[in-house]
Amino acid sequence: MVSLKEENICKEAKMLLENMTLEEKIGQLVQYGRLKEAELQKLEAGKIGSFLNVAGADKVNKLQEKAMKSKNPIPLIIGDDVIHGYKTIFPIPLGESCSWDLKLIEETSEIAAEEASTEGINCIFAPMIDITRDPRWGRVAEGTGEDVFLASQIARAKIRGIQSNKWNDRPYVTACPKHFIAYGAAEGGRDYSAVDVSERCLRETYLPPFTAALDEGAYTIMCSFNDLNGIPSSANKFILRKILRQELGFEGLVISDWESIEELIYHGIAKDKKEASLKSIEAGVDIDMHSGSYEEHIHALIDEGKLDKELLDEAVLRILKVKIALNLFNNTYTDTSLSKKVIRSTKNVEKALEAARKSIVLLKNKDCLLPLNKNIKSIGVIGPLAEDKVNPLGCWALKGEPKQVTTVLEGIKHKLKSETAVYYEKGCNINSDLEGGIDRALELAKKVEKVVLVLGESSDMSGENHNRAYIGIPEAQKKLLKALHSENIPVVLVLMNGRPLTLTWEEENIPAIIEAWHLGDESGNAIADVIFGDYNPSGKLTMSFPRCEGQIPVYYNKKNTGRPNFKKYLDVEETPLYPFGYGLSYTQFNYKNIKLSSKKIKQDEKLTITAEIENVGKIAGDEIVQLYIRDMVASITRPIKELKGFKRVHLDPGECKEIKFEITAKELGFYDEYFNFVVEKGDFKVWIGPNSIQGLKENFEVI
Ligand code: NOJ
Repeated sequence: MVSLKEENICKEAKMLLENMTLEEKIGQLVQYGRLKEAELQKLEAGKIGSFLNVAGADKVNKLQEKAMKSKNPIPLIIGDDVIHGYKTIFPIPLGESCSWDLKLIEETSEIAAEEASTEGINCIFAPMIDITRDPRWGRVAEGTGEDVFLASQIARAKIRGIQSNKWNDRPYVTACPKHFIAYGAAEGGRDYSAVDVSERCLRETYLPPFTAALDEGAYTIMCSFNDLNGIPSSANKFILRKILRQELGFEGLVISDWESIEELIYHGIAKDKKEASLKSIEAGVDIDMHSGSYEEHIHALIDEGKLDKELLDEAVLRILKVKIALNLFNNTYTDTSLSKKVIRSTKNVEKALEAARKSIVLLKNKDCLLPLNKNIKSIGVIGPLAEDKVNPLGCWALKGEPKQVTTVLEGIKHKLKSETAVYYEKGCNINSDLEGGIDRALELAKKVEKVVLVLGESSDMSGENHNRAYIGIPEAQKKLLKALHSENIPVVLVLMNGRPLTLTWEEENIPAIIEAWHLGDESGNAIADVIFGDYNPSGKLTMSFPRCEGQIPVYYNKKNTGRPNFKKYLDVEETPLYPFGYGLSYTQFNYKNIKLSSKKIKQDEKLTITAEIENVGKIAGDEIVQLYIRDMVASITRPIKELKGFKRVHLDPGECKEIKFEITAKELGFYDEYFNFVVEKGDFKVWIGPNSIQGLKENFEVI
C-alpha cells in the first residue's frame, strides 16, 4: 500500500480540498450506518462521505454513482464489520489466535477482505486488537487474547492480509484496527464500562498492538467507546493527538465508534451534540459514525468562531488522502460478476477447514481416550450444539450462512463407514432443560460404544455487550454432563464457546476435553478430524482459563509482588486451570539442550537461543515452541515472564529439530520512570517451552 505521506497523494488531496464548499467538507466527516431515502438525496449534494452496513456490488455502485454525481465528485468509503470472514466464515479471532500461525491468519484475513471487496466494501472494521484479560467480557471472542507480543504479531499479520489488495480492478481495502484504546480493560468485564489504567499500563499493555498495526500501514483506526482515565476516547486529546498523531506519526483517519460522539453527552462531558462535536473534532476524530453530530453542528461551530476552520480542513484532508490511496477515484465501481467467482471458492472453504483445525485446543486426554477409532460400531452424539448450524458461526458472522455450516453430527457421519450406527440426542437446550432430554440421552449413551458430548455457549453469549458474570458451561448443560458422569459413561467433551470457561469440575471428572470455540463454516469437519485423529490437535491457548470467576483477571505475565510466596486466596489456588500457551497433542514432545550463543550480550548485540524438540510419540504433530524471558532486576518492576518469540514446528515421529530464536537487547527494553524507552544492564532468565509454565531455563546478562 502506498504511504499517505507520498507527495502526489498530499498534493491531490489539497487540490480537491481547495475546491470544496464548507458543506462538502463537512459531508466528508459524515458516516451513515443505515440507508434511507433522505440519505440518497444528501449523497448527491455531497453531504455524506461514507457508509457502513451497505453491501453488494450493485447497491454500492449505485451509491457511488450518486456520490459521483455531486458537483465535486468524491467517492465513498464503505465500511463493514468483517471480523472473522465475510461469507466464508473462519473461527472467531480468539479461536484462530490459538493457532499461533501468522501465515494462516494473514491468509484468512486476505480472503475475508477479498470477498468483501467484491461487494463494494473498502474499509474493514478489523482487526480488533484490544488486549483481553477478563473472560467475562463478551468481546474477548473478537480479540487475540491476553498477550502483548502475540497480539502485536497477529495485528501485523491481519493488517498485511486485509490490505494485501492483489487487484487493480476495484477499490482497495483498508483495515481499521480497533478500539483505540484500552477498551479491553472495562471494569468487571462489563462492556462500555469505564477504564482506569495507568499510563504505564496503557503504554506497555494496550498500545503495542496498535503501534504494530500502524507500522504495518493501516490507513484508518477506530477509537473506543470507553471512558479512559476520565476522558472518553472519542474526546481524548492525550491518546488521539499526543500518542497517535505526534508520537506514532499516524497520518490516516480516525473514525468514531457507533454514535460514540453523541455518547459524550451520556458520559457527562458534553451538554449536547454540539459540544460533543467540538470536543471530538478537537481531539482528532475525523469521521462521525452515525451519530449525526458533525453533520448537525460543525457548520454552526465554525460560523460562531468556536471551531477553527483549520481543524476541519485537516480532518477532510486525512479522509481525502485515504480515499486517494484506496484508488477510489480511479476505480470507484466494482464489477458485479466478481463476487460469484471469489466468494466461498473451493480454496477459501479449504482455508476455513485448515483454520478451524488449527484453532482447536486439546485440553485433556486421559489414558489416550482420543483419538477414537473409526472402526467403532456405534457412537452417540449428544448435546444442544451437536446438530446446530447457527451457533458455530460465532458472534459477528454477519454475512455467514447457517446452511454452509457443517455440524459435529454431520462431520462425524462423514468420517464413519455407513455400517457404523450414529445416534443423536439433544439432551437439553443451551440454556434450559428439555423435557425427558436427559433420560433419553442416558438411554442412548448406555447402548453405544463411544459418546461425544457437544456443549458450550450460543453465539450470542459473547460479542458486543454480551458479558457473563458466571462463565461456566450453562446450568442445563452441566446437568446433562453430570448425569452422564454419574452413570460412569466416559464422554469426549467438545466445547463450543466464545471465551475461556471455568472448567474445574470438568477437568477433575471428564476424561477428554476438546476446546473448539466457535469455528465457523467448517466446524463439524474440523472437530471430527480431531476426534478421529485425521488431524493431530496443535492449538495452544491465548487466554488463561481461570479456575473460578473470583480469580479474574488471571494472566501469565503478572508482577512478582513483594510477597510472591504468600498464598493469594484462602479458598482457591492462584494459578489458572489451564495456563496461557497450553494445549495437548496426540503425540509427546521432549524439550532438551537449551543453549545460548553467549552468556553476556551488549546492549546493541543479538542473542541466539536454541533448544532441541523431539517428537517422542508415535504420530506426527505440530508443536508451538514458546520463548519467554524475565528481567530479574530493573528500575521498574517487570513481569515474571514475557513471551518474546514462538515457532510452529512440524515433527514426524522420532524426529528432532533444533529451534532457534534470536533476540536483540532492544527487545528486552521497557519504559523507565519517565517513559523513556531503555534497555538496562543486568540479569535475565530465558525459557524455551511448550507453554507459559513449563520449559527449559537458562540465564544471561546484558552488559
Ligand atoms: C460498534 C462496535 O464497537 C464496533 O466494533 C463496530 O465496528 C461498530 N459498532 C460498527 O458496527
